[in-house]
Amino acid sequence: MPAPKSHIVVIGGTSALGLDIAKAAHAAGCQVTIAGRGAERAAGVATSIGAGVTGVHIDLEDSASIGPALREGPPIDHLVITAIMRLATTVKDFNVKEAERLVRVKLVGYVEAVSAALPRLKPTSSIVLFAGVSKSNPYPGSTMISTVNGGVVGMTKTMAVELAPIRVNCISPGLVLDSPIWKTILAKGPNPVVDAMAAKTPTKRLAMTEDVIAGVFALLDNKAINGIDLELDGGIQLV
Ligand SMILES: NC(=O)c1ccc[n+]([C@@H]2O[C@H](COP(=O)([O-])OP(=O)(O)OC[C@H]3O[C@@H](n4cnc5c(N)ncnc54)[C@H](OP(=O)(O)O)[C@@H]3O)[C@@H](O)[C@H]2O)c1
Repeated sequence: MPAPKSHIVVIGGTSALGLDIAKAAHAAGCQVTIAGRGAERAAGVATSIGAGVTGVHIDLEDSASIGPALREGPPIDHLVITAIMRLATTVKDFNVKEAERLVRVKLVGYVEAVSAALPRLKPTSSIVLFAGVSKSNPYPGSTMISTVNGGVVGMTKTMAVELAPIRVNCISPGLVLDSPIWKTILAKGPNPVVDAMAAKTPTKRLAMTEDVIAGVFALLDNKAINGIDLELDGGIQLV
């Protein structure tokens, strides 16, 4: 659990897993800043989380929004980046424009945001980036998602070296059953992919948002964890 009053910035904190991380940090007494696309929307979501939460506009596809939002302001103890651009493309029907946007958000955008925030990070600060188990557990159509998530693991290790003593880690959830995207899918009825994954997973249980929050907080907090990729997949890659 991050220390009360520590300042945590969540890029992607305007919805889904990022928003739940921001809410949990606020409940723990942290000073919270969330970022997503649209100043008004980010401010509105921030207000809905609670008093003192700040919302800022960052579009990881737009350099002009990244520097101004991150370079100046109070020191940052913890930086979390969850943002992703969702796409549906396959190798056979490859959508180059969508693929480039995803690369812009998750590979260039993540590093650009860390770079912009550097003046506000302290030697004791920590960073958590979001990858995903698709990096090594692919499914048909996951080529671009698997590629960028693998890239996030790579940048985590290089940044842990380059930015030392700042700690940099990433987290690779498997399918997060109660995340909004999967709730929407499951609202349409039972899903064979979800059922098959749950049956195959050694724990017989898929990751939940509370597991992701606990994992992020452990990475932010534990001063001995550095340069790792925390896989929250119930051990599915073992079988
Ligand atoms: N959910 C899962 O089952 C699961 C499984 C494995 C890994 N993950 C990883 O966990 C992370 C979060 O997943 P999620 O399910 O919470 O995703 P999500 O529901 O798609 O939310 C994505 C977030 O990214 C932000 N975003 C999108 N494009 C952006 C841009 N150009 N600039 C800045 N922010 C942008 C969105 O905010 P705005 O719309 O306000 O900009 C939104 O808050 C992702 O990196 C994903 O790869 C998720």
